[in-house]
Amino acid sequence: MPKPIYLLSGPNLNLLGLREPHIYGTETLDDAHARAAARGAALGYSVIGRQSNHEGVLIDWVHEARTEASALVINPAGYGHTSIALLDALKAISIPIVECHLSNLAHREAFRHHTYVSQVAKGQVCGFGLMSYELAVEAAARLADLAARA
Ligand code: DQA
Repeated sequence: MPKPIYLLSGPNLNLLGLREPHIYGTETLDDAHARAAARGAALGYSVIGRQSNHEGVLIDWVHEARTEASALVINPAGYGHTSIALLDALKAISIPIVECHLSNLAHREAFRHHTYVSQVAKGQVCGFGLMSYELAVEAAARLADLAARA
């Protein structure tokens, strides 16, 4: 059994389903984790879904993923636009990283168009609502397969 895929979500995503539903939808983070886990299982990976509102906690989990995960999916939420510390943590790990956002950042305010995470992610999945989480986990699983074969 390969190591799990870590699926990390940043600040305010605990309020998914309640928070700005016209942008983020009415389903919850538990729903997102369940869908992501199903997609991961179909591809032979377990998925560990976690959320924190705290930058340092997210960074600790990125460090943990360095040795404990096959790949990392991260929706950094607002920290993606601001956190050099999170960028530095992601630079310190060599497993595949996939950036994920529910909303299409290009359709939104200019300050959301840039993320630091995109500098280190293999790619970004955004704009598909909860489906972004499923697609990001699929990409991570395939990248992990490729990395295991390399
Ligand atoms: C988000 C987009 C970010 O700009 C925002 O700060 C979020 C959620 C998304 O999933 O669409 O909190 O990451």
